[in-house]
Order: sequence, then C-alpha cells, then structure tokens
Amino acid sequence: MKYNFDEIIDRRGTDCLKYDFGMKRKGRNDLLPMWVADMDFRLPQEILDDLHKRIEHGIFGYTDPLDDYFEALNHWFSTRYGYTVDPAWVTLGAGLVYGIHVSIQAFTEPGDGVMVMQPVYYPFSEAIKNNGRKLVNCQLCYRDGHYSIDFEKMEQEIRGENVRALIFCSPHNPVGKVWTREEIERIAEICLANDVIMMVDEIHCDFIFPGHKFFSCMCLEEKYRKNLALYSSPGKTFNVAGLQSANIIIPDEALRAKYKKANTMAGYSQANIMGQEALKACYMKGADWVDELVEYIWGNVQYVKEFIAANLPKAKFVEPEGTYLVWIDFSGYGLTPEELEHVIVDEAKLWLDSGAIFGAETALFERFNLGCPRSVVEQAMKQLKEAFDRLS
Ligand SMILES: Cc1ncc(COP(=O)(O)O)c(C=O)c1O
Repeated sequence: MKYNFDEIIDRRGTDCLKYDFGMKRKGRNDLLPMWVADMDFRLPQEILDDLHKRIEHGIFGYTDPLDDYFEALNHWFSTRYGYTVDPAWVTLGAGLVYGIHVSIQAFTEPGDGVMVMQPVYYPFSEAIKNNGRKLVNCQLCYRDGHYSIDFEKMEQEIRGENVRALIFCSPHNPVGKVWTREEIERIAEICLANDVIMMVDEIHCDFIFPGHKFFSCMCLEEKYRKNLALYSSPGKTFNVAGLQSANIIIPDEALRAKYKKANTMAGYSQANIMGQEALKACYMKGADWVDELVEYIWGNVQYVKEFIAANLPKAKFVEPEGTYLVWIDFSGYGLTPEELEHVIVDEAKLWLDSGAIFGAETALFERFNLGCPRSVVEQAMKQLKEAFDRLS
C-alpha cells in the first residue's frame, strides 16, 4: 500500500465532534468513539498541498464554482461511475442534510407524506418532521441477516399516505446495502408512476466492497430523471464534512427551479471556498487514495466479522456491501435496550450509534464506524468481548 491507514493520529483538542465532545454529549471522557460517520485518516499530501496553496494566498472572500469545479465533478463521476452531469443541473449547498431540508420545503406541502426506509440515517426523519410533513416509513425487510425492500408495501403506502417524495439512501446507511440496478429501477418506476419525487442520497457511493457494484441514479433512463434529485459530496469519501459542501443535482428544469427558490428563501448564496477547493483536489487527485482506503476498510469489516463469529456468537453481524459502517444485531442476548446501552457504554466503554435512533424496530442493534486504523477496531472488539463475557 502506498498510503498508511494504520497511523494513529490524535484528534483530541482539534474541536473534533467525534473525540472532543464526550463530556458534553455523554457526560464522560473515557469512551472509545465509533459513532458519528467521521473517519480518522489524514488526507494524502497531494490533496493537502492544494489546500495549503489556497491558504497561503491568504484571502478567503466570496466564491462561486467555475469550469474547473464542474470538470473535477465530472472527472470523478465519469471515471468511477460512467456518467457526467450538466453544470446547469448543479446547485451547491452547505451539506446534504441542508439540501434535503430545502428539498422537502421545495417539493412538498405541509402535511404531505414523505417516505423513508427505516432503519435509515435519522436526519431524514428529522427533516420531514421539522418541516411539518408526515413521516411515512416503508420498513426494510430483515431476514437471515439480509435487508430487502417490500416493493408492494412501498407502492401501497405511497398511494394510501399521499406520499409526494421518497428519501432513498443509496448505498444504505446503516445497513450497508448497495442497491442493485434492478432494485433502483423498480423504485424509480414506482416513483414515476405515482408522481413521487425521488430524492437520492449517494454520499456513501465510493465505499463499495468486492462483489458489488454501485449504480448511480444518474444512470437511470431519461424518463426517470424528470423527478430525480441527487445529493452528492466528497464529505464521507474524503472526510471533509467539516468543510460543508454538497452538490444538489437536479436534471429537470422545473424541479430545479423549485429547489432554487427554496434555497434562496433559506438564505443560501455562495459556497464555502475551502469546500470547493477540497472537492477539486479530492476528485482530481484522490482516486488512488480512495481505492486503497476502501480496501483497508474492507479489511476492518472482515476483521469484525470474524471476531464477532468467534467471540460473540449471540450477536448477528449484518454483512455490509458498502459504506464504512457496520450494523450488528444484539437481540440474541435477551437484553432490554437500556441494558444493552449499559453494556456498550458502562462496560465496554464504547461510544456507538444506538440502533434506536435509526428507527423504533432496531433498538437492539448498534452501528459501528470502522473508518479508523485497524488497531482501534481491535481495541474496540476486545472491549466489547470483555463486556459481554462479564454478562455470562
Ligand atoms: C446517508 C448520509 N447522508 C448525509 C450525511 C451527512 O451529510 P452532510 O454532512 O453533507 O450534511 C451522512 C453523514 O453521516 C450520511 O450518512
């Protein structure tokens, strides 16, 4: 490997949400954090050099994307996923969650149904409720450690609950599902037939494991793009979420006009200059680093899978097909959600994202963030095993 992902970099004292907020958020500072989707790897020097160059200039005024921004975007999309976008389709935003909030205001009316597929990234549900829309959940089916979509239920609920938009997570956080082309086309067909805006969050699309292929919704047939809004950013792939930049890509002119109007009403004008700079550097120079990163994370996933099978036989590891998050089912231990939280926090001294936040039915699951050096994963697994061993 050209890059060293084993290096431990101390992030404490850098105003880092993951490491510096234990006291504020959990009332203690002794937990190993594997919660928020934020990785502990340093960007490669070739990307940092571009950022340094920009900082050295010393002036950080207003900005807007120029041709080289869209060239970088299309370089990444075309070399990795086989599509390009027209720059006119792209509106910048202060993150994906921001774009999703604005979209709900733009595409739906108060009281309208907006669908999610739980367990799913919880800010989707918050965005729906915060905007006075009706949360309609088409729960993913969970059988034998695998997740799938009940398409009949989806269509029924769309019709019965006046659903006007669907927020689709592709790949799916937290279950690690990489949806196939067939599944995505089926959803697109249901949305088109029922006049539902398909809001697709592809932020995890660069983390795809062997045997799986990412199919971007931008590669759907033209007719499906009429009601498509795609949310994309280098935020997860390069861990630049703190630079708050995102691309909201809407091919249809009328739909885009609605988004732009709501975006203006939200008071957004120009993007973050460092976010823009980072996107250009990452997308033009980061391909090799990402390839190695995904391979490294796949190694972390395999480690956890084997460790759980060997040491925590009552826990069920949901095999991820992508993302750097793993989803583990602890229901086999017969604990209540409060007891599970006690084991994870007080005994294992881990800070995870409890399954409860992703939906009511998954309170006995935990999400682990494996975007960290292998030795950290090993330490976390050791703490987890010791905590569960003490139970029996
Ligand atoms: C599926 C998904 N969408 C969006 C985000 C956050 O995006 P942003 O920081 O650009 O708002 C995350 C972060 O974990 C995520 O997992």
